[in-house]
Order: sequence, then C-alpha cells, then structure tokens
Amino acid sequence: MKLPYAEPYRIKMVESIKKSTIEERKKWIKEANYNLFNLKSDQVYIDLLTDSGTGAMSDKQWAEIMLGDESYAGSRSFEKLKNAVKDITGYEFFIPTHQGRAAENVLFSTLVKEGDIIPGNSHFDTTKGHIEFRKGKAVDCTIDEAFDTDLYHPFKGNIDLKKLEKVFTDNAIEKVPFIVITVTCNTAGGQPVSMKNIKAVSELCKQYKVPVYFDAARYAENCYFIKEREEAYKNKSVKEIAAEMFAYGDGMTMSSKKDGLVNMGGIIALKDEEVYRNAITYAIMFEGFITYGGMSGRDMGALAVGLYEALEYDYLASRITQVQYLGEKMDDFGVPVQKPIGGHAVYLDANKFVPTIPKEEYRAQALAIELYIVAGIRGVEIGTILADRDPETRENRYPELELVRLAIPRRTYTHNHMEYIASALKGIYDSRAEAKNGYAIVWEAPIMRHFTVKLKKI
Ligand code: F0G
Repeated sequence: MKLPYAEPYRIKMVESIKKSTIEERKKWIKEANYNLFNLKSDQVYIDLLTDSGTGAMSDKQWAEIMLGDESYAGSRSFEKLKNAVKDITGYEFFIPTHQGRAAENVLFSTLVKEGDIIPGNSHFDTTKGHIEFRKGKAVDCTIDEAFDTDLYHPFKGNIDLKKLEKVFTDNAIEKVPFIVITVTCNTAGGQPVSMKNIKAVSELCKQYKVPVYFDAARYAENCYFIKEREEAYKNKSVKEIAAEMFAYGDGMTMSSKKDGLVNMGGIIALKDEEVYRNAITYAIMFEGFITYGGMSGRDMGALAVGLYEALEYDYLASRITQVQYLGEKMDDFGVPVQKPIGGHAVYLDANKFVPTIPKEEYRAQALAIELYIVAGIRGVEIGTILADRDPETRENRYPELELVRLAIPRRTYTHNHMEYIASALKGIYDSRAEAKNGYAIVWEAPIMRHFTVKLKKI
C-alpha cells in the first residue's frame, strides 16, 4: 500500500498571519511604489517572497540556542559548527559569515580582480553583483534546455561543457580564477545539477587548472534530486552524496538561510590553506573575528544542528513533495509553470501567462503584483527588473525567462496554504486576457535595482 505523503514533524508553536481585503492591498502596493519588497509583512497573507531565512527551526535547534557560547574567540559553538561543516563537506578550512553574500564578499575579495571572467550556471544576483562590482564578468554556461520551461530535463541546472570550455579557450586562462556551480540553480528555476555533470565539469576544470567552487545555498535539495533522479545514487544516503559532490570542488560559499535551516548565517569552506589565509584578512575586516564572523554563538550552534537536519531523507522528501504538490496542482489547472518543478519554489512563466503585457512593461512584475492584490500572496519577479542593465551599455537586459518565483519557506506553511495559492492562481489565469498594461520604472539604483526600484502603473 502506498500511503500519501505527510510531514515528518508536528507543530509546537504557531504564529498568526493577517488577512486583508483587496481594497487594502491595492492601497498598500501603491504606497509601496509597486515594489513587493516595500510591503510590511503584516500586509501579506502568505509570504513566498523567499525561502531564505524564513523557515521554522526545530526544537533541537532552539535547544541549541540556549547552549550558545558567546565568547569572542574560540567558542564551543564555533567548534560545533566547524566540525559539522568539515564532516559534511570534507573541507578543512571554515570561516563563518553573517549570510551568503557576505561569504561571497570575503571569498571574491580574495579571488576576483578587474577583468576576470567567472563562468557558472546562471549565477545568483548577489554572486553576479559581487563579480561585477569588482569589474569582473560572470558568464552563464547553463545548458540551453534550462530556458525552455515546458521541456522536461531532470537536471536543468547542468553546465554545458562546450560553453564552459569555450570560455577557457577564448580567454587567457589566468583571467579565469575559478568557476561557480550553484546547487540547486536558483536563477534557472531551482533546478538541480547532476553528479555526472559536476564530475565532468570538475575534470574539465582540472585539465585547465581552474578551481571549482560551489554556491551551496540549497546543496541538500540538490543532493536529494541526485538520489531520486540519478540511478547510480539511489541507494546512497543524501549525506554520502553531498560528500562526493563537495569532493569534486575546491570550496564553497553558502547562505545558511536555506539548507542550513536557520534564519541568518553564512559559510565559507575551503580545501586550500593559502586561499583560507588570504580570505581571513577580509573576513576580519568585513565580518568579525574568524571564530564568529558576524554570527552569534547561539546561531552557530543552531546552524550546526540545522545542517544535519537538512540532510535527513524524510525532511527533504516532505519539503520537495510540498513544492511539487503546489506546482503540479497549478500545472493541472493549466497555469504555465516551469517544469520540472524546482526544489524550493514554483516559477510562473510570465511570457506564457501574460504575453499581452509588453516585455518593456515588466510583465513578470505585473503578474506578481496581481497575485498580491487578488490573494495577499507575495512572490518575487525573476525577470527583467532583476536582470538589471548591462554594465557597459546601461540597456535593460531582457532575460530569456520572465518568471515569478513563489518560494516556499521550509517547514512553515501547510497543505491548505498550498491549495489556497493554487486556487488564487487559477482565478488569475482564467481572467488573463484582461491583463494589458504593466509598469514603468520611476527610480532605480545603479546595481541590484530590484530591491529598491520604484514603479508606476501604466
Ligand atoms: N546564492 C544563492 C543561490 C542564493 O539563492 C542566495 C540568496 C545567495 C547566494 C545569497 O545569500 O541572501 O544569505 O546573502 N538567495 C535569496 C533568495 C535571497 O531569495 O533566493 P544571502
């Protein structure tokens, strides 16, 4: 008998969330300059802005909070976290940071110089931001299949080896200080990278003597997909898969706010002592002493526990099943979503959903705003606004995909919430022909504009 999926936990504490009316939401989103980041959390009913730092900690993690050692140097909590990171990644050297982009800031200060080229699979925006801020260039080598939202491919986060090798041969190899593999690939839709691809990329990089770094924000979810979709790994534990994956690389940065199952924190883990030695100077300047790096002792303790919980098969199965359930339900309603459904989020394909809105009027943003007004659900645009302007021409970069991401926080919302979200989208989809006008930018920042952009309705 095959029983339906159910969560491998029960709820010990609840947090109320506020409902509101369409009229209230119309007023609030206008006051927020049509930027969903500007809404107050109490103006949102179901918050799918991000799965970053928004999940629920376990009783064991909360217990660890009480055991936190807040010594400035050499705390027990640091040791716990260092041991967990080494046990999971195999990397000898560890630096805590306050979040993922801080890890990028420290590591890239060490590795990236003006004119450098850093290939990868659709770098996350802060990763690209930290490269471009140092006048480097991030080159996307993701496989073409990733850009067709209807096409089924089990590992749409994979790197195209030909594209990667072309970067190595078209440029002086000293200009390529490293490559970044993002697992799972957030920008490509939360899509995993296969072990076969990671291994092949690592072998190619060895030939050219280019180090491989992982952006490991959602590495546990990636390892779960490898177990489920790659025959050779079906009998391995998620932890064993993670160990093999990290062995193909030279180090990683991680936003612990995802698969660390904590609300704040970041990790740098490295094989090479020299890189570590160079990085700690920046860590001390930007983050704090090397045994806390912007984190409280108690938070390091909770992260040490969270890292292990995130590798548990039952947890991952329920996490991924919940996201898949939402995506498949929408797919059944005919709502265009990216397929296969990613690990942490369901992505609406705005090019197919609202082709009636011109792309110059930010159609994915328009769809995200509509979802908020209709149902109080906050998603996020992963489209032209996020893609920003070309640093040289200052022209808008129109990405192949115009998406709205509905990111599901970990261990936070119930099955009924998923039903509510899917029904709201069905309603919007059924009346999509009425959508004609989008938005225009009134003000934007020179870099990473999506957080603070101000828009007006056309
Ligand atoms: N790398 C990836 C793949 C990410 O998804 C993020 C953050 C970061 C790095 C930066 O980490 O936020 O801790 O500084 N992603 C969040 C998101 C913000 O909503 O997807 P951070």
